[in-house]
Amino acid sequence: MWRPPQRIQFKASAGRVPSAAEARTSRLFSPIEIGPAALAQRTWVPAMVPWRATEEGYVTEEVIEWYERFARGMPGAIVVEATGIRDVPSGPLLRIGHDRFLPGLARLVETVRRASVGRTRLFIQLIDFLAIRRRPDPDKFFDRFLAVTKQHRAALGEPRLSDAEVRARLRAMSGDELARVLTPSEFEALQFGYRERVSDLQHAHIRNLPQVLPDLFAAAALRAEQAGFDGVELHYAHAYTMASFLSRTNTRDDGYGGSAEGRVRLPLEVFAEVRRRVGKDFAVGCRFLADECIEGGSVVDDAIYFGVAFARAGMDFLSTSRGGKFDDAKQPAVGAAAYPYTGRSGYECMPQFISDARGPFGRNAEPTAAIRKAIRDAGSLVPVVCTGGIHNFEMAEDYLARGVCDIVGAARQSLADPDWFRKTLLGFGDTVRVCEYTNYCEGLDQKHKPVTCQLWDKLASSGVERRTPDGKRRLTAPAWSPPD
Ligand SMILES: Cc1cc2nc3c(=O)[nH]c(=O)nc-3n(C[C@H](O)[C@H](O)[C@H](O)COP(=O)(O)O)c2cc1C
Ligand code: SF4
Repeated sequence: MWRPPQRIQFKASAGRVPSAAEARTSRLFSPIEIGPAALAQRTWVPAMVPWRATEEGYVTEEVIEWYERFARGMPGAIVVEATGIRDVPSGPLLRIGHDRFLPGLARLVETVRRASVGRTRLFIQLIDFLAIRRRPDPDKFFDRFLAVTKQHRAALGEPRLSDAEVRARLRAMSGDELARVLTPSEFEALQFGYRERVSDLQHAHIRNLPQVLPDLFAAAALRAEQAGFDGVELHYAHAYTMASFLSRTNTRDDGYGGSAEGRVRLPLEVFAEVRRRVGKDFAVGCRFLADECIEGGSVVDDAIYFGVAFARAGMDFLSTSRGGKFDDAKQPAVGAAAYPYTGRSGYECMPQFISDARGPFGRNAEPTAAIRKAIRDAGSLVPVVCTGGIHNFEMAEDYLARGVCDIVGAARQSLADPDWFRKTLLGFGDTVRVCEYTNYCEGLDQKHKPVTCQLWDKLASSGVERRTPDGKRRLTAPAWSPPD
């Protein structure tokens, strides 16, 4: 992962630990309504992909145990990981693109209800993504993948070369020469692996995204409702299709790109169709970026515009993240695919303990506060969730007091200790395992390995817990219950 050149080390701490009485009357542990869904407290576990689904996208025993463990901490809400809305193979990522996924998802809902004694509301994040290929072996790229064109011959100054001769010439060229002869997208396909963009209007399936996505998202949301979820979070953040529509890099000229109004059009149409198809008692919100953190990308002013538009459209909650883009991802090894959390924007999404003077905690606070303020000024009371480096009660309470957000999201801190809400509420805040922000978990995510926390394995084994296939890591956090 990219790291700031300053390389200043930070250590997260438990902060000031409240007594049970103070916690009970705090903002963090006060209720809030998200449209039709009532949260018992303002704590939120954002979506985290744990790589535990089957290759076909079904819920497994490991998926059930992962969410059961979070539910035992009884947060106000859990958002189930990014779940694919299409009925296409997508590796061990959860899927919701067909009714055959319903029984597994319904079991997941029941498990969370039981483990949280009905106290945790459960949402599922709905995602669409475009194709991305692995970085090719250069020989294979020139021999098989590249379509030889007149432009290549013209750039080589040899209009009469055969295809085979063009391929042979290209294969012998240096990177600088290739950058001149290949088109930017061919050069990117060679260096990083081919990646589709929402602005590739030459492809019918990309041109038609505005026609197909509202129905795909709505059908998936309807299934989520049938499975018993309390609502859906439309994934409009990071490196995926809907975030790419919102991005300033979206140059579509068909009314779905260019101006902020054009870029927000499809996300609003998707929301409208979802809202139209699900019941009144089902919450619909989205996650979007407070800042893309890439050159030429959307900044907080764009996010303010989008946030106000989403609020006016009637979304039930808005959750912010930042960065996490392919645009500045590191070049992958040959045979591997680019990963959107390896560049500076990836750092902004999941900042690590080695940071710059601003530090890794709270980088998303001020932009989210600005978005929330604009939404309030526009007359909407839609709850706003802020996530990013939040790891203790003091920090969470401060965010709520300052009006940064209405609900506090904590991903890695909840992974490190899924009981941190419950421990804090019951007056055992001094026993919380504080996340070290080493990003060991994120490294596993990058390799598509089952995500676990480094801190879990520092504790004595119970001898019965489920472990990774190599037996080296616990698959869920150690159990905790309040002392008698
Ligand atoms: C292992 C892992 C998987 C993640 N998967 C998702 C995801 O599916 N959807 C999403 O919106 N964010 C995902 N994120 C980002 C988190 O939701 C969160 O925004 C990020 O970790 C920063 O918050 P934190 O500092 O509280 O960890 C993931 C993060 C981690 C560590
Ligand atoms: S591995 Fe654990 S301690 Fe390290 S960043 Fe992830 S959640 Fe935090």
